[in-house]
Amino acid sequence: MSRRKVYLETFGCQMNELDSELVAGRLRALGYAFTPTPDDAHVVLYNTCSVREHAEQKVWSRLGELKARKAADPALVVGVLGCMAERDGEALIRRMPVVDVLCGPGELDKLPALLDNAVRTRESLLRDEPAPEGHTPRLISAREVALQGNTSRRSATLAAAADSLELLDLSRSVSPIDDDGSVKRSAYVRITRGCNKFCTYCVVPFTRGAEVHRPPEHIIDECRRLADAGVVEVTLLGQTVNHYRFEHGAAVTVDGVVQPQKGRSYAGGHRRDPFAGERVTTFADLLARIHDEVPGIARLRFVTSYPRDFGDDVLEVIRDHPRICRYLHVPAQSGSDRLLGLMNRGYSVGEYLEFIDRARAHLDQPEIGRPLGLSGDFIVGFPTETDADFDATVALLRRVRYKNAFIFKYSPRPGTIAIDRYPDDVPEAVKRARNTTLLDVQGEISDELGREQVGRTVDVLVEGASARTRKRRASSPGTVALTVGGRPAGADADFAAADAPGDEPVQLSGRTDTDLIVHFDASPTDALAWRGRIVRVRLDRAAGLSLFGTLIS
Ligand code: 5AD
Ligand code: SF4
Repeated sequence: MSRRKVYLETFGCQMNELDSELVAGRLRALGYAFTPTPDDAHVVLYNTCSVREHAEQKVWSRLGELKARKAADPALVVGVLGCMAERDGEALIRRMPVVDVLCGPGELDKLPALLDNAVRTRESLLRDEPAPEGHTPRLISAREVALQGNTSRRSATLAAAADSLELLDLSRSVSPIDDDGSVKRSAYVRITRGCNKFCTYCVVPFTRGAEVHRPPEHIIDECRRLADAGVVEVTLLGQTVNHYRFEHGAAVTVDGVVQPQKGRSYAGGHRRDPFAGERVTTFADLLARIHDEVPGIARLRFVTSYPRDFGDDVLEVIRDHPRICRYLHVPAQSGSDRLLGLMNRGYSVGEYLEFIDRARAHLDQPEIGRPLGLSGDFIVGFPTETDADFDATVALLRRVRYKNAFIFKYSPRPGTIAIDRYPDDVPEAVKRARNTTLLDVQGEISDELGREQVGRTVDVLVEGASARTRKRRASSPGTVALTVGGRPAGADADFAAADAPGDEPVQLSGRTDTDLIVHFDASPTDALAWRGRIVRVRLDRAAGLSLFGTLIS
């Protein structure tokens, strides 16, 4: 039979994007093909996010749209992966009977087996053949389910059983060519999974489980393989990435594979870890090792930082290693100490600012062309938030001057601590107004920061054709708008389209190491060659945080 086609759509965070990439790699190795639209797929997978209700609603509506399709084609297999599967569990199937497969983020290594069972069971039913062993025809209503429940929180240390999720990370195929034919230049690498912080509003500690750190050798090896395959930018991922710490003496090996280790955070605040480098690989050690041992990585980034327990050692490593980007994503969530307490964030506004000032003192060196870029997350309308609390958040934004801020209206999430403890008492209209105000304030700050950049010359990692070029090419006759999984196809496809007759310049986009977006023109014949390269651009003009410049070299 022809290869089964999978449509995979990803919602939510970078961790989910990486999970989807790993899952797609496994499925491709097993012979599945991928299709950019759900219409001709045999298997439709949604990798979901539960952080806010809005993200879940999108998935509910996608599932609703599949009802008619499934009625017409009962062999279609529908899978919900990720945090929504873990959080809702089988209640999700009761609400949406189109769903055949549920797989939590901690169980994704089992997905190929679940899918295989689901596909074979449904196909044999349709052919009226005996079902595969263990699957009787009556199981037309059977579902394939792998959820973690709260098992990952039960033991203080990982049991001597192999951490099979680690095998998924280890199995990563590092082919530099994406499905759409584009060369991959940027990649995510997971260093920790899960979270132990239990901020009261957040589902992540429940859906992704306890904090687990991957062995440094696995991480460095993955970076090296990616670099060898042509990747030039690596972003290390963790919910609280700076908590990374691997104690070698406590490492467990199963079947020759060193196992990830439950979080054993260092309680020394930002004092240096006395065992760093020898008995322990700290986050600072890990950054320095990747930088030094994998010179092919031109840019090393990491997200998301937790504003507490961020040692000077990390800041010094960033300062002293030129290919580590001076960019920190450090969510503050609120500028009010009272609300930070209710959120269980574990720091005060004063402590947050102490960190920001310390980071600036180490890393903000615009005079040598190396400024520090900061971004943050904020929640408006958390229960009991008053005008005065909100004003304190506005003041924090102005004081820190983030390059950009991600602003969210509080969304009560089932299963979190806050939903039980605090009534959602800020009216929606007030949440909306505060959201708009904060976006406006951030807009002003971004405008100012953008204007300050004009006249500077910066290094830009070229990502591809700008949105403007893509739009133009897509609407001009003879070119085709390419999409993959609902998103624009890789930039090489765009460049190919841009190679259309005529020598009108192509507008390219890329980012500085502080994560500013820069657009500049290149000749259409050179465009393809620039992708994934770092070029010098003189900045001529700013529109908010979009900067426009001239290619120098
Ligand atoms: N409501 C609104 N925003 C939330 N976030 C996490 N949980 C919630 C929630 N229940 C935001 C936080 C976090 C980001 C990933 O999402 O700002 O940093
Ligand atoms: Fe959620 Fe807080 Fe953990 Fe971030 S640190 S994932 S907001 S619990």
